[in-house]
Amino acid sequence: MSKPDNTPAGWLEARLPIISAFRREYVDFAMPRNLTYLWNFGAFATIALALLIVSGIFLALNYTPSVAEAFNSIETIDRHVSSGWLVRAIHMGGVSMLFAALYVHMARSLYYGSYKAPRELLWLTGLGLFILVMIAAFAGYILPWGQMSYWGATVVINAMNAVPLIGPALASWLLGGEGLGSVALHRIYVLHFVTAFSIIGVIVLHVAALHVVGSNNPTGVEPKTSADVVPFHPYYTTKDGLGLCLFLMVYAALIFFAPDLLTLANNYAMANPLVTPGDITPEWYFAPFYAILRAVPSKLGGLILTAGSLVVLFAVPWLDRSPVRSARYRPVLRWALLALFAAFIALGVAGMHKPTGLWLALSRISVAYYYAYFLILLPFLPRVEITRPEPATLRGEGA
Ligand code: HEM
Repeated sequence: MSKPDNTPAGWLEARLPIISAFRREYVDFAMPRNLTYLWNFGAFATIALALLIVSGIFLALNYTPSVAEAFNSIETIDRHVSSGWLVRAIHMGGVSMLFAALYVHMARSLYYGSYKAPRELLWLTGLGLFILVMIAAFAGYILPWGQMSYWGATVVINAMNAVPLIGPALASWLLGGEGLGSVALHRIYVLHFVTAFSIIGVIVLHVAALHVVGSNNPTGVEPKTSADVVPFHPYYTTKDGLGLCLFLMVYAALIFFAPDLLTLANNYAMANPLVTPGDITPEWYFAPFYAILRAVPSKLGGLILTAGSLVVLFAVPWLDRSPVRSARYRPVLRWALLALFAAFIALGVAGMHKPTGLWLALSRISVAYYYAYFLILLPFLPRVEITRPEPATLRGEGA
C-alpha cells in the first residue's frame, strides 16, 4: 500500500480529485501537434463570455427594468456611476467580440470538417450555444430601452405573431400581455440573464465532449502515435495565451478608441412607440438573419427561411457524406465553402440596407445559395468530387 500523502493537496485529492483531473484535462492532455491559430477561437469565445458575465453582474447592480427607469438607469451608469462607462463598454463590445469569435470558430469547424464523426455532439452542443447566445443578445439589446431596442423587439414580436396557432400565444406569454411595456421588459431582463448563465452549463458540456474525442486538426487525419501529439501545457497554453493577448488588444481598441463603432446612434434616443425610425437596422451580428427574414414578401415565409437557416445546421454532420474530413483535400468543396462564407457576408451587408433593388436581389441569391450548399452540395458533391489523397499522418504528406 502506498504511503498516505499528508500535504493539503494530498488531503484534497483523497476526497475530491480535482487537482489530478485538472492536470489530466488541461496540462497533460494530448493535443494534435499541428493546430493553427484558428484553433484559438474557442478560447477567445470563452474569455469574451467570461468578461460579459462579470461586466453584466456589475451593470445589473445599477439597472432598473421598467419602462420609466430603464433608459435613465443606463444613462446614469454611463455618466455618473464610477467606471460605469467602462463596464458598459466592456459589456457592449464583448457581444461583438463574442459573435466575431463564434463566426470564425464555426467557419473553421465547417472548413476542417470538425463536425464529422466522432465530433457530432461537439457541433450540436456548439449550435445550442450559438442559439442561446443569440437569445441572450437579443434580450440584452432591448434592456437599454432605446429606439432600436423597442423597434427591433417589435420586428421580432411581429414575426412571432406570424407563426400560425402558437405564435400569438407565445408572444403574449413572453410579453405578459399585449404590448411591449414594463411587464415585458422585466421578463426580457430575466430571460437575458437566465440564458447568459445557462450558456456556462452548455460550455461545460461542449468542452467535456471535446475532451472525450480530442481536437480535430487541419489535415482532418486523427493522431496515430505519440509523435503526432503534444501536451496541452506548455504548447497550447502559450499559443492560446499569445492569441488571447492579440484578441484582448483588438477588444481594448474597440472599447477605448471606438466604443460606438458598432452601435446605432438611434439607440441613444429613448424608446418612443409613436415614432417609427426610418429604417430598423439590426446589430451587425444579426444582419445576415435579418436579410433572410426580409428576402421574401411573406412574413411567415421569411420566418420559415430564417428558422430553417439555423435548423439545417443541426443536420450538417449527416448531410456531409464525404469520407474526407478536411476541405484541404476537397478541391471543389473548398470553393463551394468559400462561396458560402461570401454569401453569408453578403447577407450581412444586405441586412443593413433597405430590402429593395440590388440589396434585395443580393439577399435572394445569397439565401438560395446558402440552402443549396447545405441541401444539395454537401450531400451530393461526394458522388462526383475527386478528392486529393490525405497524408498518412497529421505531420504531413507521407511523413
Ligand atoms: C459560447 C460559445 C462557444 C464556446 C465558449 C466554445 C468553446 C470551444 C473551445 C474552447 C473549443 C476547443 C478549442 C477550439 O477548437 O477552438 C471548442 C471546440 C469546438 N467547438 Fe466550440 N465553442 C462555442 C461555440 C461553438 C459553436 C457555435 C460551434 C458550431 C456550431 C462550435 C463547434 C465546435 C467544434 C466542432 C469544436 C471542435 C473543433 C476541432 O477540434 O476542430 N462551438 N469550442
